[in-house]
Amino acid sequence: MSTIGIRNFRPKVHFTPNKAWMNDPNGMIYVDGIYHLFYQHYPDDTVWGPMHWGHATSTDLLHWSHKPIALYPDELGYIFSGSCVYDKDNSSGFGTKNKPPIIAMYTSHGECEQQSIAFSTDGIHFEKFDGNPVITNPGISDFRDPKMFWNSIKNCWSLVLAAGDRVHFYSSENLKEWKKTGEFKSSKELIPGVWECPDLFPFDTEEGVKWVLLVSMGTDISYGKAVTQYFIGDFNGDTFICNEPLQEPLLVDHGFDNYAGVTFHNSNDTIFMGWALNWGYAPKTPTNDYCGQMTIARKLSLLKTDKGYRLSNSPVGIEPFKSNAQELDNNAELGYETFGLSISGEGVSSIILENEKKQQLIIGVDEDNYIYVDRSNGGAIDFHEQFSMSEYCKAKSRRFRKGKYEIDIIFDVSILEVFADDGLNTLTLVVYPDSPYTKIRTEGDIELKIYPIE
Ligand code: FRU
Repeated sequence: MSTIGIRNFRPKVHFTPNKAWMNDPNGMIYVDGIYHLFYQHYPDDTVWGPMHWGHATSTDLLHWSHKPIALYPDELGYIFSGSCVYDKDNSSGFGTKNKPPIIAMYTSHGECEQQSIAFSTDGIHFEKFDGNPVITNPGISDFRDPKMFWNSIKNCWSLVLAAGDRVHFYSSENLKEWKKTGEFKSSKELIPGVWECPDLFPFDTEEGVKWVLLVSMGTDISYGKAVTQYFIGDFNGDTFICNEPLQEPLLVDHGFDNYAGVTFHNSNDTIFMGWALNWGYAPKTPTNDYCGQMTIARKLSLLKTDKGYRLSNSPVGIEPFKSNAQELDNNAELGYETFGLSISGEGVSSIILENEKKQQLIIGVDEDNYIYVDRSNGGAIDFHEQFSMSEYCKAKSRRFRKGKYEIDIIFDVSILEVFADDGLNTLTLVVYPDSPYTKIRTEGDIELKIYPIE
């Protein structure tokens, strides 16, 4: 059970399920002006259970409308994570040229993990293929989370899926018959653990096309239990090749609450959303009738830094709100529970959000040039023993730049997202203050603007 919270912690512009449990985003796709979000869902309780695909749609990625459950468990098993593609030439034959189908591929998690498909011509009702599974299990216990994409190198459909400590690639002409084309495993085990929820997508850079492979890692507490790492390299049409010798893992987000994130299919930009929670303590978060939220949608790009290209995350849809930003004095009253902050600063400095119980959420830059978030006294921490452990109190991320910094913050009732230096450093953390933060204070050389988001 989610523990009983003392107030309503439901964020306003971060997606939450109507009720009950949610984990990974699945099958995210943009079709006819509508963003579809499917998600791992157990509708009967606020803890993980037999997985369904829940469904919601949005036109702005901030406000969502709930749709009927898209996929129910069946004789092949629970409906684990996967993806959707828009089959606009009807290569699968499940639609028509005039009514192209959306094809969903998910992992059937039963006696073993194998991949199945379902199709829809209205984006709401899905019918499962009677030839499932389309990819059988090759004898690997963790064999899941297929992410399909259009392979522009070989002019066919491809997918990447997690297989233990690596990913496998498959390709297909018709989305029904798939053959394996390759594998990728890191040359060095940078983070130990099971690979989950991969994704692969390209970016144009000054140095030509570079491909990014995302992998979420179910790992141990020394790595924050649940992190999403990425590799930068090439895709030759069959497999991914990593040409950057990595000393340390590259992480999409340095907070504790951004896991299993992947990108939308068929959108113009590369738009990412993650599950904004952590397996370490998720089921006991004090959110009453629901459990879990998604991160805000983020546009991903690659930016050049002194260390080479790195992923940058930029929140989608908040520009109209940001253009109304007002200057804020030190020690100001905070009039909103959902707001953005634009911060310019230099040197050791911090921003403190505080409530009437003197609980404080601190965001700052330290003497070693790390951006950090300290939630140790931000609100309730004793609902789960792991949440109150020091490992989960303070998150930090080393800046790629020196000197002056710009930080964008989005705070939404019980979730904080920090985007520093053009989104090169990102930290996402949940926090459960007993009462809303009503004051904002700064220390050090900082200028601040605030804007409500609704
Ligand atoms: C990641 C994950 C996936 C799996 C799903 C099950 O959080 O473990 O690998 O498909 O959750 O709900």
